[in-house]
Amino acid sequence: MTRATAQSCANIAFIKYWGRRDDDLRLPLNSSISMNLDHATTATTVAFDPALETDQVTIEGAETTEQAARRVSTHLDRIRARADISTRARVVSRNSFPMGAGIASSASAFAALTVAGCAAAGLRVSERDLSILARLGSGSASRSIPAGFVEWHTAKTSANSYAEQIVPPDHWDICDLVVIVQTGHKAVGSSQGNQLVHTSPFATARLAEAERALPVIRAAILRRDFTMFGEETEQEAIRMHAVAMTSRPSLLYWSPATVGIMQAVREKRAAGTEAYFTIDAGANVHVLCQGADAGTLTAELSVLSGVQDVITNQPGPGTQIITAHLF
Ligand code: PMV
Repeated sequence: MTRATAQSCANIAFIKYWGRRDDDLRLPLNSSISMNLDHATTATTVAFDPALETDQVTIEGAETTEQAARRVSTHLDRIRARADISTRARVVSRNSFPMGAGIASSASAFAALTVAGCAAAGLRVSERDLSILARLGSGSASRSIPAGFVEWHTAKTSANSYAEQIVPPDHWDICDLVVIVQTGHKAVGSSQGNQLVHTSPFATARLAEAERALPVIRAAILRRDFTMFGEETEQEAIRMHAVAMTSRPSLLYWSPATVGIMQAVREKRAAGTEAYFTIDAGANVHVLCQGADAGTLTAELSVLSGVQDVITNQPGPGTQIITAHLF
C-alpha cells in the first residue's frame, strides 16, 4: 500500500470563472484571478490498496453519496492512467470549513486529491501539470495548486489552461473575512451554474468586462492598490451574479442576510473603513479588507443579522504534501 496526504486551501476569485468553452475539459471562457485562503483548508489522504475492489471515499467522517464518490473515482482514474496502475484507493478528506456553501470546497478538495493521489501513485508531476490535472476535477481547483495570488489562463487546449502564481502570499497584507450566513448545500452547484451561462442575455457583456478587468486587477495586486482592486472585484462579483440571475432557469444565490452584509460593507466604506465584497455561488459573503482593519471589521460583521460565523483568511500557501495521515 502506498499513501500520501496533501493539504490545500480554498480560494476566492476576484475575476470569476463562470462559463466554459468546453464542459468535459473544464476549459473556462475567461481567465480568472484568485487568492488562496489560509484558514479554509482541506486535508486529503489517498491510499492505494491492492486488497480493495472499489474506491472508498470518506468525507468528514462519513461515506459520500454515490455521485460524489463517482466524481472522485473518475479523478483517480486520470491519475491511475498517468501512473499506469489499476489499484483502487481509500480516500479520506476533511475540511476546516462548511462544505457546499460558496466557499469553493471543490477547489481545495480536488487540489488536495490531485496532489495526494499523484504522490501516492509515485508520480512526479510539475506544478503546471498538477494545476491542469486538478482543473479536470473542478475548474477552480486549478487555482488552489500554486501559492498566494494566482491567475488561471483560459485557452483552447487543455495543455495551455493552467494556473500560475502572480505574487506569493507575503506580497500583500489583505484579508478575506468569510461571513457565513448559510451552511447547508446550495440548490444548484457551480458545475451546473456554469453550464447555464450561455442562456443569460448578459453573458457576452460580462465576458467582455471580465477580460477588461482582469489586467486591471492583476496590476492593482502588483501595485498593492487596494481601492482599484476592491472596486473592480466588487463589480465583477455583481456581474457574475447578474448572469446567474438572468440564466434560464434563474439562479439566485443570495439570501436576505447576504444583501444585508453587502449593504453594511458599503455603509462602512462610506464611513471611512475601506472594505469590499465578493460572493461565489452561494449565500456567504467574502469581505475584503486591509490587514489593519480585519480585527475591527470581524467584530462588527459578527453581530449583523443572520451571521453564524466569520472566518478570517490571509493569503494562503499552495497545495502541499503533509506527513500526517488521516487514518
Ligand atoms: O470550480 P467550481 O465548479 O467550484 O466553480 C467555481 C465557480 C465560482 O466559485 C463561482 C467562481 C470562481 O471562479 O471560483
